[in-house]
Amino acid sequence: MPRSSERVLLLAHPAGHSLSPLMHGAAFAALGMDAQYEAVDVAPAELAAVVGQLAHPPYLGANVTVPHKEAVVPLMHELTAAARAVGAVNTIVRRGDRLVGHNTDGAGFLLGLAELTQSGAEGTLPDLSSATCLVLGAGGAARAVVHALAGAGANVHVVNRNVERANRLVQELAVSPRAASVVNVADLGDLLPATDFVVNTTSVGMSGGPDPGGLPLIEATHLNALPPSARVVDLVYRPAVTPLLAAAGARGLVTQNGLPMLIWQGAKAFEAWTGQQAPVSVMRTAAERGLAQVTG
Ligand code: ATR
Repeated sequence: MPRSSERVLLLAHPAGHSLSPLMHGAAFAALGMDAQYEAVDVAPAELAAVVGQLAHPPYLGANVTVPHKEAVVPLMHELTAAARAVGAVNTIVRRGDRLVGHNTDGAGFLLGLAELTQSGAEGTLPDLSSATCLVLGAGGAARAVVHALAGAGANVHVVNRNVERANRLVQELAVSPRAASVVNVADLGDLLPATDFVVNTTSVGMSGGPDPGGLPLIEATHLNALPPSARVVDLVYRPAVTPLLAAAGARGLVTQNGLPMLIWQGAKAFEAWTGQQAPVSVMRTAAERGLAQVTG
């Protein structure tokens, strides 16, 4: 008798335009799994009830995105160390009747970064023990990125429009004070010549965001102060080339948008639900096709 279809939800509000259903649908199909991934619009008042349903079959778990990543934390039976440290859950995994909150954003970010550093086989973490990183922004995405970079041994500087928020981020992540510190925009000129990676985690440059045509916190001339070996990463992937990536590319710097992070955080979530190795190239093709349809 065929087994009834397993299900994974994406909890979002609103639930439009995500590439995750395409990525995970393709991954389930590639592995021959009878499972469905479906984005659902969950209003904040309904969140607890929907999460409660995930504790039973046919659910393998869920992804969680804006605005629910922090709100689901107290609804979990257990948290992974990363989810607890970051204070946010992007992946819920059902274990029997218990819900485990994971955060795969940080690992996804590092695995995407590894594609730029060519330091090992695909899917292995980059060696960042002597890297200096400048993180632009101090919101939810920045928390996962700073935690991951500091955990990988990098020396991390955080700059944000709201300096208080950056201070709170560094304190609350409780990484060692040597690993992460806050820097003022005015002091960026001193820092940039020794910076290996610049990472934009703000929504500046995102189509439909607050400032689609702008640069996040740094000026185009600042990019001249970076060493030629510096890499510039933007977590934004719509558009594929943000104003920051265009300016960095014009200076000959190696760049990466947010698609590799999206793919790898999805791969790690897939592995947590299924216990199987994620078909990353299938997921990448699905995400790239989906993005081309939206933007093309
Ligand atoms: P996310 O979960 O995607 O990180 P968020 O938590 O709302 O979203 O954080 C948004 C980030 O983008 C913040 O660092 C925010 O800066 P503030 O903390 O100063 O608000 C940053 N950001 C948004 N719009 C910006 C703008 N126009 N200029 C500079 N930074 C901006």
